[in-house]
Formats: sequence, structure tokens, C-alpha cells
Amino acid sequence: MISSHKTFSIRKILLTFGLLSLLVLAGCAGTPTWFEPASPNAALIANLGTAIFLIAIGVFIVVESLLVFSVVRFSRKREGEPAQIEGNTRFEIAWTVAPAIVLAVIFFLSLQTLTSISYAPNYSGGAANSPAGNALRVRAIGHQWWWEFQYPTENIVTANELHVPVNTVVNFDLESVDVIHSFWVPQLAGKTDVIPGRVNHLWFNASQVGAFHGQCAEFCGTEHAFMQFQVIVETPDQFKAWVAQQQAPAATVTGDATKGEQLFLNGACIGCHAVNGTKAQGKVGPNLTHVASRKYFAGAVFENNADNLKKWLANPQALKPGALMPNLNLTPSDIDALVAYLTSLK
Ligand code: CUA
Repeated sequence: MISSHKTFSIRKILLTFGLLSLLVLAGCAGTPTWFEPASPNAALIANLGTAIFLIAIGVFIVVESLLVFSVVRFSRKREGEPAQIEGNTRFEIAWTVAPAIVLAVIFFLSLQTLTSISYAPNYSGGAANSPAGNALRVRAIGHQWWWEFQYPTENIVTANELHVPVNTVVNFDLESVDVIHSFWVPQLAGKTDVIPGRVNHLWFNASQVGAFHGQCAEFCGTEHAFMQFQVIVETPDQFKAWVAQQQAPAATVTGDATKGEQLFLNGACIGCHAVNGTKAQGKVGPNLTHVASRKYFAGAVFENNADNLKKWLANPQALKPGALMPNLNLTPSDIDALVAYLTSLK
């Protein structure tokens, strides 16, 4: 018999475990999670995740019950050394077949989900959420450590902030200019690797308006964690307005911003950055034509405001160590002028 002292210990362990789990789960509140899908594809993935989780709970209960049963039933105090068995054919078959069945079920469920959400560019008809010919096309290009989004049909280039209309199929061409990244918006679609030298595909059809967090999900260097982006799902009208704004030429600058524009166009900035309609045509860094329209910058990590931009220009490495934006040793008055220019690029 197990003593009451031991029972108490087991209870204590279970209680501690339960409380710790609650704490861990509480930490997840408010974070982007595939438990709250916002597209049919993400819902399929969430269902699969839940199914596998329930199966895992079942396996856990069976295995732990057998373990606890064996510990209690065959304790040395109670039974002495139990009979030693080896090569029991029935047991061997049972514990080979049972896990095989469990894995086969998981394999089947996974394959079914994978087929439902896989990229089908020429698909027509069938499921309501399948990619259609008139879908929006976006090239998502991974850079160390930010995301470029190109809309080839609309002729738009932006960074770290992806706008898409609600209830519209969006087909992505996923590309990388340097190392392997991974495109992941937990609430909208599964992860897909972004590999230099090849084009991968992914699609989703957002079913609710809102802002959704995206994150690079493949370790890609120092600032992997700070390679984020925002997906802004809008009504068709809002999206149309956004497209029109992004297609407009860069704002004409006045006042303090004029000095900043001169510094920008005659300095090192244009080696990496583009502002449409000017001689700045750099392709290495984010296109800044409408940079002030974005909520965040530098991999969607810092809020896009004058204070943060000043800190960024003064010393990018202080904010984001390893960032490829160099420290240009700008004077405070140059920084002020450049920020006046950048914040005018609405
Ligand atoms: Cu890009 Cu991690």
C-alpha cells in the first residue's frame, strides 16, 4: 500500500503542474494564436491541431494510467520482484499495432488538411475557398530582417505591412533574396518556407477584417525574432483606397522636409532605398515612397513615429543589433531634416 504521505506528494505534484500550466496558458492571452483562426484555411489547421492535441491527451492518459497502475500494483513492498516476462508475442503485437493505428489516423488527418489548403493556381470550382483566377497576387520577399510586399498587377511595392481585402483569395509567391525564411500568419495560414532561388506558394482567404500578426518562422540570423509584419485585412472599399494611395506619386515636400529630401537624394540613402518618381531607386532596403503610411518599421518592430525614426537614424544597431541599415553618423540637425522628410511621405 502506498502511504498517505506519498499520496499527498503526488497530489502536490499534480497541483503544481496544473497551476504552472495555467500560468503558461495565461501568458498566451492576447497573443496571435492559431486557436483563433480568421480564414477557412487557418480554421482547417486549427481543427487538425485540436484533433492531434485530443489524440495526444488520449495517449497520455493510457500511458500514464498503465505506468501508475504498474507502480502501485507491482511495488516491491507489496509483491516483491514481479515475474519477468520477455518476448510475449501478444504484447509485442499490441504495442506495435496500437501506435501504428494512432499514427495512421494522424497521417490521414494531416494529409486531408494539407490537400485542402495546398496551392492550386488553376483550380476552378469545388470548394468555395479555393484560389480563383481573379485572385489578388502578392510577391512576399524575405530580406534579413524585414518583409517586402510587391503587388505586380497594382504596381505597388511596400514593406512590413501587407494589405488585403476581406473574403478575397490572395495568392502569394514567396521568395527570398538571402537566406531561408518562413512566412507565417498564425491566424490566416500555415507556415511556408521562403527559400532563395525558388518560388514557393501559399494562399489564404481572410474571413474577418482586422490586423493580424505575421512572423518569420525559420531562424535566419541575429534579428530573426524581429522579422515581423502586419496583415491588414480591409473591406473592399478600404482596400481600394489603400491601393490608390500607394499608387499615388510621392508627396511633394515643403518646409523642413525640403532639406531632408536634398540630404536623402544626395546622400547614401539612395544606395539602398527607393522613392518612386525621384532618382532614389535602391532596391536593397524598403521602398520609402509611402513610408509614413505604415504603422511600424524595421521588420514591423518599432512604431513608426518621429521619435523612433530619430533613434533609428542616429544608430540603427542600438535599436536592432545586426540590422543591415548602417550607422551613417548623421548630425542631429540632419536627422531632424531627414525625419521631417520621411514623415511627410504619407
Ligand atoms: Cu527571417 Cu527568421
